[in-house]
Amino acid sequence: MTFAHITGWGMCVPETILTNDDLSKMVETNDEWIRDRTGIRERHIVHEGQTTASLAVDASLKALQIANLRPTDVDLIICSTSTPEHIFPATACLVQDRIGATKAGAFDLLAACSGFIFAINMAAQSIRSGAIQNALVIGSETLSRFVDWHDRSTCILFGDGAGAFVLQASEMPGGVLSAVMHSDGSGGDLLIVPGGGSKHPASEATVQAGKHFIEMDGNEVFRFATRVMAQSTRETLEIAGIKLDDVKWIIPHQANIRIIAAAARGLKMPMDRFIVNLERYGNTSTASIPIATVEAAEDGRLQPGDKIVFVGFGAGLTWGALAAEWTGPLPSEHKVYPRRYRIWARVRSFLLRVARFIEGKIWGRGS
Ligand code: ACO
Repeated sequence: MTFAHITGWGMCVPETILTNDDLSKMVETNDEWIRDRTGIRERHIVHEGQTTASLAVDASLKALQIANLRPTDVDLIICSTSTPEHIFPATACLVQDRIGATKAGAFDLLAACSGFIFAINMAAQSIRSGAIQNALVIGSETLSRFVDWHDRSTCILFGDGAGAFVLQASEMPGGVLSAVMHSDGSGGDLLIVPGGGSKHPASEATVQAGKHFIEMDGNEVFRFATRVMAQSTRETLEIAGIKLDDVKWIIPHQANIRIIAAAARGLKMPMDRFIVNLERYGNTSTASIPIATVEAAEDGRLQPGDKIVFVGFGAGLTWGALAAEWTGPLPSEHKVYPRRYRIWARVRSFLLRVARFIEGKIWGRGS
C-alpha cells in the first residue's frame, strides 16, 4: 500500500512590511481596532518586481531542498491561488518552467483560502493511486494587488506570501490520512472579485467601478467561518479514525483570531494547540496554512509522528479539513541542490523559445 508523505516545506514572504499604523495613515482605522477585531498587527506586501509566481518559485525551491528532491523528479505541480499571474496560462506552469521541473504536469487550483487543503488532497490521491511518485503543492498569493486600499473593511485583512509542500510516495504508513472538501456556491457573492472574468470582462467601466477589487460581506463570512471550522475538523478526524485528544496541532487558515478562538471553543481545545501567526502576516489566503506550518516545522514545534489537522474556509464558499501524520524528509543517499537547476532551467527555457522560433520559420508559422 502506498502512502503520501509531506517530506519538504518552504515559504516566501516579501520583505516589505505594512503595519496597522501605516494603514491608519491610508484609511480611517487604528492599530487598536484592527488588533481587537482581527488579531493582525502587520502584513507583508510585494514590491513591483515580485509576483505570485516569483514567491511560489522561492517557496518551492526551499521545499525541494528540505525534501532533497530534484525538480526533474517532480511529477505534478498544483498551484493553489486566487491571485494568479494571469487568467491563463496557469501560474503552476510558470513555476514548472522556472524551477526546471521538466517532466511535471502543472495546473492551478482555485478554491480561495481552502485551496491548499484541496490541493494537498488531490496530490495525495494521485500518489496513493500509484499514478505519480512526487508532487509539489504550492499556495501563493499577491492579494495586495486585488485589494482596494481605500476600503478599510478589507485592506486591513490581507497580506502576500507563498508556502509549498513536497509530497512523496512511500510504503511507510503515515502522511496524509484523510480529508474533507465542501463547497456552497450560493454564497459566492459574499467574497468576490466581480470584474475581469467572463461575466464582467475588463473595460473602462469595470475599472472605474472598482470591480477588480475584493468585495466582502465580512459579517456573513465570519458567521459561516465560525460554523464550519470545528465541524470539518471533526469530520476529517472521524474518517481518519483519530481522537481529538491525539491531535498535537491544529493548523487553521489564518483569517481572524476570533474565528480561530471560536473553532477552539467548538472543539473544546485550548488555543495553545493551534498554530497561529496571523499577527505577523495577516490573511494570506491559500498561503496561510503552509506558512504557519513551515514556521512550526522550523522552530521545532512540529515533530515527525505528530498528528495534525489543517482546516480552512474561504470564497466560493469553500471549506475543508485534512488530517495528517507529520513525516519529514525521506532517507536518501545523495544530497541534491534544487537551486542549481534554476540556471539550467533558464537556459532550457530560452533554448525552447529559440527552437519554437526556428520551427516557426521552417514551417512558415505566421506567414
Ligand atoms: N477600522 C475601524 N473601524 C472599522 C474598520 C476598520 N478597519 N472596518 C470596519 N469598521 C467599523 C464599521 O464601519 C462598523 O462601524 P459602525 O458600527 O459605525 O457601522 C464597526 O467597525 C463594526 O464593523 P463590523 O464589520 O461589524 O466589524 P466586525 O467586528 O465584524 O469585523 C471583520 C469586521 C474583521 C472584517 C470581520 O467581519 C471578519 O473578520 N470577517 C471575516 C472575514 C474573512 O475572514 N475573510 C476572509 C475569508 S478567506 C478568503 O477566501 C480570502
